[in-house]
Amino acid sequence: MKTTAWLLAAGLSVSLCLGGGVATAQAHETLKLEAPKPNLLPTPPMGWNSWNKYACNITEDIVRKQADAMAASGLKDAGYQYIVIDDCWQKSRDADGNIQVNLERFPSGMKALIDYVHSKGLKFGLYSDAGSLTCGGRPGSAGHEFQDARQYARWGVDYLKYDWCYTGTRDAEAAYTIMAKALRESGRDIVLSICEWGDNYPQRWAAPIGHLWRTTGDIYDAWEGKKGYSIGMVNILDKQVDLWRYSGPNRWNDPDMLEVGNGGMTTTEYESHFSLWAMLAAPLIAGNDLSTMDADTLRILTNKDVIAVDQDPLGQQAKRIWKEGDLEIWARPLKGGDQAVVLFNRGAAPAEMSVTWEQLNLPAGLKVQVKDLWSKKVTKNVKARFGGTVASHGVIMVRLTPII
Ligand code: GLA
Repeated sequence: MKTTAWLLAAGLSVSLCLGGGVATAQAHETLKLEAPKPNLLPTPPMGWNSWNKYACNITEDIVRKQADAMAASGLKDAGYQYIVIDDCWQKSRDADGNIQVNLERFPSGMKALIDYVHSKGLKFGLYSDAGSLTCGGRPGSAGHEFQDARQYARWGVDYLKYDWCYTGTRDAEAAYTIMAKALRESGRDIVLSICEWGDNYPQRWAAPIGHLWRTTGDIYDAWEGKKGYSIGMVNILDKQVDLWRYSGPNRWNDPDMLEVGNGGMTTTEYESHFSLWAMLAAPLIAGNDLSTMDADTLRILTNKDVIAVDQDPLGQQAKRIWKEGDLEIWARPLKGGDQAVVLFNRGAAPAEMSVTWEQLNLPAGLKVQVKDLWSKKVTKNVKARFGGTVASHGVIMVRLTPII
């Protein structure tokens, strides 16, 4: 079907501009998503993505090794599920517009690789872009949305990360709606991960369309700083403070993928990164080489108590409830009346910190069990406040259970 024909068939308002003999159709924002959004992410996604470590140097061999490692290392048991290939798997389109895999990098082709990932009991994700090209300059999906979605479904794709490079003057909500419709009509349940960097306030419109949306530009593997379009971990964190009200089951804010284990931060900083992402109910998408990670990286990525906070079924993203200089307290309610609290010290020296029951809206006389989610120490019958010495760039992360 010609583009204009399917736009009309889809109920879009279409304006035709005839110039130089070429007809173009412009979609306005009236596209109706008839099929409901599949309930695929009641809790934030957990998995691995190729970009942070490998960028465009990704190969089939690397992906197979990540799937092997995810299944064998304990990550799968801890809840990690998706293996996602980011940009640069594509090469070209054939004469009919079908997307072609780069067979030098993926010699078995996409179907065989996806079958392999599925054979490990894992799910599989791919990347594309709403523009003419991806950010890495490969063919984008603009004008090929339905064709691409059907191809992904035939291959067995479970998750699509959909980027925003080379989109010109396209309207973001309209562009993502077209891909959402294409995926919902593809015959397969596919997560839609919206990646337009927060530029068009996706928190205001993305929830009916996708399952998660990026809230910032790219992370890079540093405590703080700026490198091109990328910013450090605490810079990303600062942009999440006001977004808690938008997130929830099947509609997650995405502060970008994890850098744990990539070498640019200390172990303490990676513990903070992981703790804070769990507080944000963020996707936990590892970005390191799972096949060679050290013991600390595995220990951080598989901390089941911290993961349980991220995956809490209430899905309530943390609020920053207190800040004074370099010291911050973040808190989130958990299902059943528990709370998770992070005392976060961004300063250069250790700091004494505490949180009061008043700050947490708990009665001062309430007895609470406090579990430190990193040291695993449990303290019973705590009243009025809890605290301790927080390392420079570190956290104390606790789970509070009222004793009633
Ligand atoms: C953008 C995205 C990144 C990554 C690259 C790939 O920068 O924000 O997460 O997908 O494109 O080129």
